Formats: sequence, C-alpha cells, structure tokens
Amino acid sequence: MSTPANPSKPGKSRVNQERVLVLDFGSQYSQLIARRVRELNVYCEIVRHNITAEQVRAHEPSGLILSGGPSSVYEDNAPQCDSEIFQMGLPILGICYGMQLACDALGGQVSNAPAREYGRARLHIDDSAGLLSNVNTETDVWMSHGDQVSKVSDDFLPLAHTQTCPVAAVRHKSLPVFGLQFHPEVTHTPEGGKVLSNFLIDVCGCSGNWKLGDLAQELIEQIREQVGDDRVICGLSGGVDSSVTAALLYQAIGDQLTCILVDHGLLRKNEQEGVIEAFTEHFHADLRVVQAQTTFLEALAGVSDPQEKRQIIGHKFIDCFREEAESIADARYLAQGTLYPDVIESGAAPDGPAATIKLHHNVGGLPEQLGFDLIEPLRDLFKDEVRSLGSELGLPDELVWRHPFPGPGLAVRCLGEVTEERLVVLREADAVVVEEITKAGLYRESSQAFAVLLPVQSVGVMGDARTYEDTIAVRCVNTDDFMTADWTHLPYDLLAGISTRIINEIQGVNRVCYDISSKPPATIEWE
Ligand code: XMP
Repeated sequence: MSTPANPSKPGKSRVNQERVLVLDFGSQYSQLIARRVRELNVYCEIVRHNITAEQVRAHEPSGLILSGGPSSVYEDNAPQCDSEIFQMGLPILGICYGMQLACDALGGQVSNAPAREYGRARLHIDDSAGLLSNVNTETDVWMSHGDQVSKVSDDFLPLAHTQTCPVAAVRHKSLPVFGLQFHPEVTHTPEGGKVLSNFLIDVCGCSGNWKLGDLAQELIEQIREQVGDDRVICGLSGGVDSSVTAALLYQAIGDQLTCILVDHGLLRKNEQEGVIEAFTEHFHADLRVVQAQTTFLEALAGVSDPQEKRQIIGHKFIDCFREEAESIADARYLAQGTLYPDVIESGAAPDGPAATIKLHHNVGGLPEQLGFDLIEPLRDLFKDEVRSLGSELGLPDELVWRHPFPGPGLAVRCLGEVTEERLVVLREADAVVVEEITKAGLYRESSQAFAVLLPVQSVGVMGDARTYEDTIAVRCVNTDDFMTADWTHLPYDLLAGISTRIINEIQGVNRVCYDISSKPPATIEWE
C-alpha cells in the first residue's frame, strides 16, 4: 500500500517476494484494480503514476498495471509515466487511459472516439491467445471512455474490438505490453477476472499464493519502516476503521503508540468500556481516555440545528484531542483509519497532496489542524478487507463487525436539543435495536442499524392513563458503499419485538416508527 506521507516508497519488504504495482493515473477504479489483483492472490501496491523506473526496479515487481484516468493523453499536463518503464521488459497491462498512454508511447495513435462509449459493450475477440485465453469469443465488457486508440503501429497486434472501438484490446509484438480499452476490474465485465488472471499468472508468471492474511504482516513492516523510532498517536472512536488502524500500529511499534479516545458523551451504550477492554486488556496499548462528556454537553446546550451541532462537536473534538496530544511531547505521526471510499469521496487527485478528508468523515479534519505527519495504512482497502484484517489481528468480533458510527455520534441521531436525559433514552433504544437484530441473526447481514430520537411527542395510552411522550424511529439499511442504500425489509415479528421492548423498557417513549426511506433521496443518518 502506498501512503501519502511516503507515496512511492521504493524497497520491497521481506514478506512478499511477488507483487504487482498499479500506477495510478487518477482513475476512480485504481483501488478496485488492486482489490481484484489481491482477490486473485497476488499482492498489489498502488503507486503514483510518476514513479521513476529506478523506483519501480527497487520494488522488484512481477508486472505493472497502468490505471485509467480522467485525462486525454494529448492534453497539456496529462499525467505521464517515466518512458523508460516501457523498455524494462516488465509485463505491463494498460487499462483505458493506461492503454492509450502505452500505445502513444510506443508509436500508436490516440484520438477522440467517434462515439463515446459509456456502459456495457459487446466485445468480439479476434485473437484469444495469452491475455484473452479462455474468454468467450463474444463477451460483455464495461467501457467508460471518450478517447480511444484509433490506430496502432505495426509493432502492435489488435486482440479484440467492439462495434465502435476497433482496438479494444491490444498487445505489443516484441514487448510484454498489453492494453485493454475496457475495464476488467468492474463487476459489469463478467469475464474481467479471467483476463486479469491471465495477465497475472500467464504473462507475469505470478504463482498466486498470496493471502489477505499476509497483508497484516506487509502493512506492519511498512509502518515500522516509515515510523522508525518516532511516536505515533492514533485517535480511537470505537469504530472498526480506527480500531484496526490502532491494532496494526500496536503490532508494528508496540509502546511507541499512544491511542487517544475522546469520549464526547455521544457514544453508544458500553462503547467506551468495549474499546478500553480491547486495547488495554488485550493489546496492552497506551490508551488515554479523555472524559469530555460535560464539555460537549455544555457546548451543545440549546442547539438544535444539525450543521451547528456538527460544527460545535468538530471544534470541541479538535480542542480536546489537541490538548491531550500536546501532552505527548515526542509524537510525530498521527494515524488515521481512512479507507478507500473516504479517499474517493474526498476526490484525491493522483498528483495532489495527501487527500483532504471530508469534514463529514473525519470530525474536524484533525491532521491539517494538528500538524502531524499522517499515517493511513488502510487507505487502499475496502471495508470488508479491513474487517478481515481486524480479525486477523485478533480484534474481538464485537469491534470488527460493529456497524459504522458517525463521528458526531448520537448527537446527529438525537433530533432537536441534545441533553443527557434525551441521550439516555436514545442510547437505551439503540441498544435494544442492536440486541434484537443481533438475536435474530441479522446484524452482520445489515449494513447499519440504529435508533433515532425524534423531537416529536405524541399521545398514547398506558394502563388507563393518557401519555404524551417521545417517538423513536428505527433505521436499518443495506448498502455496499454507503453512497446509496436501501431500507432493510426486516421481518414484522422482529420489528414488533423491537417496538414492544422499547416502549415497555424505556421510560418516556410511547411510539416507535420504522424508517422506510432509501438513500437517495434520504440519507442514512437523519441529520
Ligand atoms: P449519510 O447519512 O450521509 O451517511 O447517508 C453515510 C455514512 O456515513 C456515516 N456518517 C458519518 N461518518 N462522520 C463520520 O465519520 C460524520 O459526520 C458522518 N455522517 C454520516 C453514516 O453513519 C453512514 O455510515
């Protein structure tokens, strides 16, 4: 994995003898390519496109994949790569922009496609040896390009075409350089895995015996190399991303790590205890818990506006974190559990500085404000890979499988004013929702489940008496990427059980609703 603090670090660790590098030209699919390669049991690192041939050599890769990208190769300032790379004799697979770049560098011609191709296309294979072997001669592929290779030099051999793209796959006659105009990494290219496997196993000669479990060791080595004797601070939130980051750091550098948990009083039931238990009893890590519940509640008093709440919490969080961090005199690095989807949402450019993380996903933008160097060991990974890594590192299941939780915590689920009394109601209701869904065996299957306390009171009857009490909304969604989501069709009996328990057990609630809105147009959180 590359990290922004050390973008294309040369030097291969001892752990992996076999690896492929993905040169990132700014495609939104670069990490997906890396993931597909890892799924084919070949270790893979993403590096910036401008890595030098010498740096490439130092990695000793078995092959290179040039990613797609939003630019046109003939534009000024279009990202290039060191041209020596094409002459190294290394197997190279260019995908989309990467193919255009390779063909351009080796004497082909790239131009605007007569018809832009976005979406599914039918690929006709003209030469099924090597890269396209064992792929059906007609197969669906996913295209997403405005430019295409219109003409290749005599040094190239076209391998496949679509109706509008005469050279949809290509290979160089004497160099092990291949190009695909389509995206083999997306699920809409059903035989894409086969094509990638042909490249990795047959062309690059990889053995394909790497396991995701090896990644932990790989990342640990990289962290050790980057950190040296320095001290690292890691903010813990109770979520899986920061927990896995801390666990990795701990295994890499042991007591050079200090974890900070700011308890803003907006955590879920027993959350602080769970984190303390995992990190002090299990890992013996140096964990500082900042008990800032009162500070946050005082700052939030009288505030109902969602944005204002987020801002207050963000600022207070930075204040609390900074104060604690300042007491750790020799800290140089801040570790963050940024995942690949966070990087994508923040629009990280291939040439840009370290990704600017959205306020939305990292309370208050800690690193810029605190002036630490950043360590983001998970930034090329997807959530499910992070979970596997967490289990591999020995984190308890409750932490590894915990649903995502927003930085501003229960404040954005406590609609209206946030008070201690209202938080108690919400926390208990949330615990019931999670307990019941877990009992029904549906917790892991659903992506996020929680309770929301509405600023609405309504009339009810309990015993023989009239009540006028609060309303809890139950939210449960399924999603792959949290950018879009469907409400989960929970069984009626389960919903009935949740409702009965909340109303019976939690004083002050007489009504429970189930949120049946998808995202979009609703969001997952209510604020
Ligand atoms: P929305 O509500 O935008 O949420 O559909 C998408 C995902 O992001 C989480 N979320 C946050 N995470 N800080 C975070 O770290 C935040 O301020 C924040 N707001 C929403 C949300 O829980 C869901 O998983």
